[in-house]
Amino acid sequence: DKLPGLLHGMPKCELHIHIEGSLEPELIFALAQRNGVTIPYASVEALREAYAFTDLQSFLDIYYAGASVLLKEEDFFDMAMAYFHRAKADNVVHAELFFDPQTHTDRGVPFQTVIDGLTRAGETAQRELGVSSALIMCFLRHLSEEAAFETLAQAMPFKDRFIGVGLDSGERGNPPEKFARVFEQCRQLGLHLVAHAGEEGPAAYIETALDVLKVERIDHGVRCVESPALVERLAREQVPLTVCPLSNVKLCVFDTMDRHNLAALLEAGLKVTVNSDDPAYFGGYMNANFDATFDGLPQLGPRHAYVLARNSIEASFAAESAKAEWI
Ligand code: ADE
Ligand code: ZN
Repeated sequence: DKLPGLLHGMPKCELHIHIEGSLEPELIFALAQRNGVTIPYASVEALREAYAFTDLQSFLDIYYAGASVLLKEEDFFDMAMAYFHRAKADNVVHAELFFDPQTHTDRGVPFQTVIDGLTRAGETAQRELGVSSALIMCFLRHLSEEAAFETLAQAMPFKDRFIGVGLDSGERGNPPEKFARVFEQCRQLGLHLVAHAGEEGPAAYIETALDVLKVERIDHGVRCVESPALVERLAREQVPLTVCPLSNVKLCVFDTMDRHNLAALLEAGLKVTVNSDDPAYFGGYMNANFDATFDGLPQLGPRHAYVLARNSIEASFAAESAKAEWI
């Protein structure tokens, strides 16, 4: 069977990776020691054992706790370089990294510290690994519109360091409309726009992300199937969905991989991509996601693999000249 070789070897883009979600337990402990931060787990093994999630919020609580070891520019650099090495090993040619500045600025870490470390890692990855990348700044949707505007203001001196904005954190009860004005301002600034929608939240959030926020891609989007009219629209408009299969199973969006709707979404003609979301927490990076998806959904074959890789390149915000080289 040549499928694993094909899945692993295909050049691919990763469009949905929270860089704070790439922080492995070993690095959490190393950074805790380096920075004199105490974490409420006795060992790497004890921390990893706590990664048994029942829903998105149960994950977010541990994810924000893990990020508390990040204090210095070097910490953000080391975290992102560890990710880029994993990406390179999985034949990821281009990655668009989400980062959550509010998780850090709310702990007193300056915005500049965060973005300097991530920017230097992106430059180093291009130079030393040949991996291309870009940053997408996410607003935490459980916080206020006012806090999002403050974050945007803090980001303005570094506007040339990130290509777009996104919306993440707890979805239920925090609809896209809450951030209509801040996204409108970002649109005026010429930034790319994406948002998490239809992960745990209803199909209606996918519609308002498109119609009110005017996003170009939907992150997750798997609950679109609850509205046949929406599925038809997503297919017609070829709106990319950045689906994260291992994440969806770990956060109990689907009970098991064989229940995942990725194959059905592809079959319906949607522009689906495969991504890792928070690989340190959900059981693997890009190729692990491809392996688990194709194992769980045996109706997927080489033709689907090719379509998923091509979709990831086409749906990226990379320059058309770069895309032409990867396809
Ligand atoms: N932040 C990190 N991962 C996330 C996810 N899967 N959904 C919402 N917010 C997140
Ligand atoms: Zn996500």
